Amino acid sequence: MTPTTSERLEHPYRSTAYVAGLTHGLYRYPARFSPGLVAAAVDAFTVRNDVVLDPFVGGGTSAVESLARGRRFVGFDLNPLAILLTQVKTDPLTRAEVRELQSWVVTAHPQSGLDLTDVRLRNAPADLVLGLAPYLASVANLSTPRAQRAARALLLDVAQWAVDGKQAHAPSEALPGALLRSFSRFRDGMAELVEVGAAHGIHPSDFPVRRTLRLGPAEFVAASRPLNRHVGRVKLVVTSPPYPGVHVLYHRWQVRGRTETPMAYWLADANDGLGPKHYTMGGRSSIGEGAYFAGIRATWASVRRLLRDDALVLQLVAFTDAEAQLPRYLETLGEAGFSHRPDLEPEGWRDVPNRRWYYRVQPARGSATERLIVHEPN
Ligand SMILES: C[S@@+](CC[C@H](N)C(=O)[O-])C[C@H]1O[C@@H](n2cnc3c(N)ncnc32)[C@H](O)[C@@H]1O
Repeated sequence: MTPTTSERLEHPYRSTAYVAGLTHGLYRYPARFSPGLVAAAVDAFTVRNDVVLDPFVGGGTSAVESLARGRRFVGFDLNPLAILLTQVKTDPLTRAEVRELQSWVVTAHPQSGLDLTDVRLRNAPADLVLGLAPYLASVANLSTPRAQRAARALLLDVAQWAVDGKQAHAPSEALPGALLRSFSRFRDGMAELVEVGAAHGIHPSDFPVRRTLRLGPAEFVAASRPLNRHVGRVKLVVTSPPYPGVHVLYHRWQVRGRTETPMAYWLADANDGLGPKHYTMGGRSSIGEGAYFAGIRATWASVRRLLRDDALVLQLVAFTDAEAQLPRYLETLGEAGFSHRPDLEPEGWRDVPNRRWYYRVQPARGSATERLIVHEPN
């Protein structure tokens, strides 16, 4: 018997497999969702050339899976790190760029002359900054913007590994080896991505042309001019929004498990102008859930305007107090113009690890639970 749609989503929904394969391994973006779940949804609900939208694209899991399968993709995020990483993960390098990047990785670069009083280096371990600076300064010598972006993403990957969440950061002598490993993993993942794309008739140079990525708030998704081309044409939304009552540290790394550093923005050459509440629709303080649900309502009302009549919306949402928050979440989607489709949902809840999450509302069950929710436009 052919499995029903909810059965097809069931296995990847339950899977606790590590996020790996293709280019997914580049940087551990917080609160990533499982590539298998996106792949199953894309296969079940779209065909080649359909548009998939993720208004909270994060580390780009949905972008990688959709583009590899010959779909077109639109992604939004407020966080410049998310946009940079998603760009790099979905833009295959040419052979010449791979060679150039490899020699950048293995070359000892001269001391840098970078300004090490940059405010984005607040709380960053000084020895690691000195070890990273020569690589960072020589990014500008790479001959294409694509290779330069990839180099920055590799530095992000390695520096996050060296610093984030560690009681003692890795010694700077470990950086060259770690950079080489990161590069090799990325190169191999990209080769795999190109291969999967080829099986779906997608040429490597098609990848960036088939996606639109925007740095901006999901609340204004429909107002974005480049998106007008796609208006009314999105077939599937697959996303994981910020969670009610939960603060995930998207824009900081934790040094010695306590202090927070914005050094990722130094490596990404990006602005660190926004506070935590911008990344979580509410922040760590007790602003309450009103602002959160207002943001969610605005986002979905905006997304609604871009959808085809037969579109579906899949969201993986974590709750600290599901009994109170899930009904309110569903009600908010109703207000934004959607009908709930529980018949398409795999049953039940998944526990999610609460590492590096901060709760505004203490979870009722000690840890947050997450759930896949399916809607269709009214
Ligand atoms: C749970 S993460 C998404 C993770 C993603 N599914 C992945 O696999 O990597 C939520 C994302 O929403 C972004 N975000 C928060 N508020 C936003 C807003 N108002 N507009 C757009 N993006 C926002 C955060 O920066 C974060 O990247």
